[in-house]
Amino acid sequence: MNKIIGFCLTILFSASTLAMPDVKFSDVDLKQSNQLVVFIDSTEELKGSASTVNKHTNGQLLAAIKASNATIKLGSTKTFYGLTPYNQVTVVGTGKSPLTQSQLQDIGGAAIAAMPANGKTVISILTDNLTTQVTDAESWIAMGAAMRDYHFDKYKKADAKTEPRKLVVQSNESQKATAKYQGDLAHLVKGIYLARDMASEPGKSIYPQAFVERVEDLFDDIKNVDIDVLKVKQMKKYKMGALLGVGQGSIHDPRMLVIEYNGADDDSAPIALVGKGITFDTGGISLKKNTGMWAMKSDLSGAAAVAGTMLAVASRGEKVNLVGVIPLAENMPSQDAIRPGDVLTTMQGTTIEIMSTDAEGRLILADAVRYAQDKYKPSMLVNIATLTGSAVRALSDEYAGLVTRDWALTQKMMDLGEISGESVWPLPLHPNHFTQIESPIADIKNSGAGNPGASIGAAVVATFIDKDLPWVHLDIAGVDWLETDINVAPKGSQGWGVRFMDQLVRENIK
Ligand code: BES
Ligand code: MN
Ligand code: ZN
Repeated sequence: MNKIIGFCLTILFSASTLAMPDVKFSDVDLKQSNQLVVFIDSTEELKGSASTVNKHTNGQLLAAIKASNATIKLGSTKTFYGLTPYNQVTVVGTGKSPLTQSQLQDIGGAAIAAMPANGKTVISILTDNLTTQVTDAESWIAMGAAMRDYHFDKYKKADAKTEPRKLVVQSNESQKATAKYQGDLAHLVKGIYLARDMASEPGKSIYPQAFVERVEDLFDDIKNVDIDVLKVKQMKKYKMGALLGVGQGSIHDPRMLVIEYNGADDDSAPIALVGKGITFDTGGISLKKNTGMWAMKSDLSGAAAVAGTMLAVASRGEKVNLVGVIPLAENMPSQDAIRPGDVLTTMQGTTIEIMSTDAEGRLILADAVRYAQDKYKPSMLVNIATLTGSAVRALSDEYAGLVTRDWALTQKMMDLGEISGESVWPLPLHPNHFTQIESPIADIKNSGAGNPGASIGAAVVATFIDKDLPWVHLDIAGVDWLETDINVAPKGSQGWGVRFMDQLVRENIK
């Protein structure tokens, strides 16, 4: 009996925990810790309590900074040991002021990365000397630190796991900062962690139904959320031949996960977020080459970002109506798989000739965006997907590919990218891109001659988007998975899109 209870508890807790770093805020109190972080800007002067720290060291800190010849650019760090009375003082450069929201996150991330991992001691960051227009600046710094202190080490042996760090952010408005962090930004961090966990998990553990169950667990006690899961039977009813087709080669059936969040006071039309959830992309019968194929475990990053954004927005109770539509399938080669040359009929009725079974993302999106529009009549639709190698080659790590039908919307999205810290760059959609996907035997085909791949992928999705609907297409194939650390993320999946879409919701852009 005990064993059974224990087993159930293990399942309960292992499924729904997202271990987050312990972040607290306090008023400035230099005695609280001897592991200090201070900021310095390009004027190379220590201001506010950082100058008090310098005084306590009899001016040794500033002298050490000058002697180290460190260039003080945004996110640069230098640690000094044994400056009595402190064990360790880490100086983080902030570059030129005033600092933006994403720069605050960057310096928070840089700060925590410079401190010892698994520190049993509490790390104190002094934030009272920054120049910025951003309200609750110290909360955004804390968020940056929390984003950086992410570890996916559940498959490592116990003593190789990293404990989340303990962090105290010191400022003159610690109560306000606590409220902002606990009531808002911590939820955003949680959403990002969820997205990263999903993209980091091996395909063996995250197949469509497993994705659904994880998400359901995390939304269990959140208000105003309704979750609907379409299984094969319902997909057949809706004639979602594209999603069914992509999923049919796998022993794991496809799913369509729908997360509805009704947080607005009225029943205004929701914003729809649609994310590609290929839980593993082998390419199918058009099999990928083996080098690097393992990274296709993260071909659900778009889906993961939508789930993460929904979690962040719903947990903080934002007054907005939002719906997340997440098509999930595993793209496998097998005797049941679709073949190149096959024709699939989508929910919209449009038929698609399959040129490559490896161009599967646009297929599952075709049915998902149709479903989102028919069922929810959204005011705007954003779809996000690790869609094309072409976007990787064009834009790499720096920008996600952005396609819209309207230049004003494109500019809004570019601004949003700069504010959120997740940048986007426009790619074209030309009438010729639609000519390229004309098929001799079906309404369209799923890929063109090759170039320009990212635009062709967008053209396929566009075929399923109502002409008058504000539409944002994000190709994140290049941006989500990082080979090296950045200020706000360790290498691996960065949960790209949660900050971007969250900012879009915050500003309620339509
Ligand atoms: N999931 C891939 C795109 C991708 C590539 C994501 C690299 C992340 C990193 C997508 O399903 C794919 O295979 N796209 C093909 C389409 C082609 C066959 C028309 C591509 O871009 O090569
Ligand atoms: Mn593919
Ligand atoms: Zn794919």
